[in-house]
Amino acid sequence: MYEFVQMEQEKRLNEEYPDDMQLLIQEGGYISPDEHLWNDILVGIVLKKPVLLKGPSGAGKTKLAQTISHFFNQPMHSVNCSVDLDAESLLGFKTIVQKNGESVIDFIEGPVVQAMKKGHILYIDEINMAKPETLPILHSVLDHRRMLTNPFTGEVIYAHENFTVISAINEGYVGTSPMNEALKNRFISFSVPYLSGEELREIIHAEFPNAAATLVDTMMKINEDLRKQVINGLLSDEAASIRSLLDAISLAEHISLKRAVRYAIAEKLEDEIEKNLIMELVDTWVK
Ligand SMILES: Nc1ncnc2c1ncn2[C@@H]1O[C@H](COP(=O)(O)OP(=O)(O)OP(=O)(O)O)[C@@H](O)[C@H]1O
Ligand SMILES: [Mg+2]
Repeated sequence: MYEFVQMEQEKRLNEEYPDDMQLLIQEGGYISPDEHLWNDILVGIVLKKPVLLKGPSGAGKTKLAQTISHFFNQPMHSVNCSVDLDAESLLGFKTIVQKNGESVIDFIEGPVVQAMKKGHILYIDEINMAKPETLPILHSVLDHRRMLTNPFTGEVIYAHENFTVISAINEGYVGTSPMNEALKNRFISFSVPYLSGEELREIIHAEFPNAAATLVDTMMKINEDLRKQVINGLLSDEAASIRSLLDAISLAEHISLKRAVRYAIAEKLEDEIEKNLIMELVDTWVK
């Protein structure tokens, strides 16, 4: 790890948070495909750059963001984008509260405002699912200005020095729109791939320390075959999803491996030909 990243980690580890914010500090566990991805993302974060994680479903993007929260012992606020996402769900809203017997208007701060003021992590998931007109409100937050004029209160907010933004996208999925160029331009971007080989074994071992070695070996061979067919263009990316593979292993500890793969991997795909291909590949490993 780079020395300046380590120094920043030590600095952030000294921060103290109240109990309700401590609950937002996540667990770690992300395993990097190589020595660079994890370290380079940390460099981006220490340089205060918003980080965009791109990759297929179940590749560990959320896990990676959680592991950054764990690494810096820093609370993480999550925003899930959808077409319904609006400025209020990002910034907060006005409400009437009772103070000393009188009704007064109060502003309840949303995730962006809280993370900026308190120096937390803001995790924006599925950022390309939001309506294109919603996110420009974040442009000044995401560039070198690191500030925001709250349109609901007029308050000018400058981000705390630890304020960190991480976003994730599945490019090209149904319901997503291409990310607006000006928004995309504010992030440094990293591809998060599905892991294989020894790193994959490590993930499986961390999740299922007591799983039978034969089960793990077979599942890894099936995953390897599925990856090859993804590369050959015969299967969709998600056939090699690590989430699906972990689901299959957890089912296969109780039911037959074939049925486990059917429910956790094959049935998630739409195409009958792809489903059949997966089950044929499984047949070559399990009689
Ligand atoms: N490199 C990895 N290191 C550790 N765990 C991983 C890794 N890749 C996948 N996983 C595991 O796979 C599962 C799915 O990961 P995660 O939810 O982070 O995926 P994602 O990329 O955010 O998917 P989606 O786009 O569907 O939200 C989790 O149980 C996670 O722990
Ligand atoms: Mg995710």
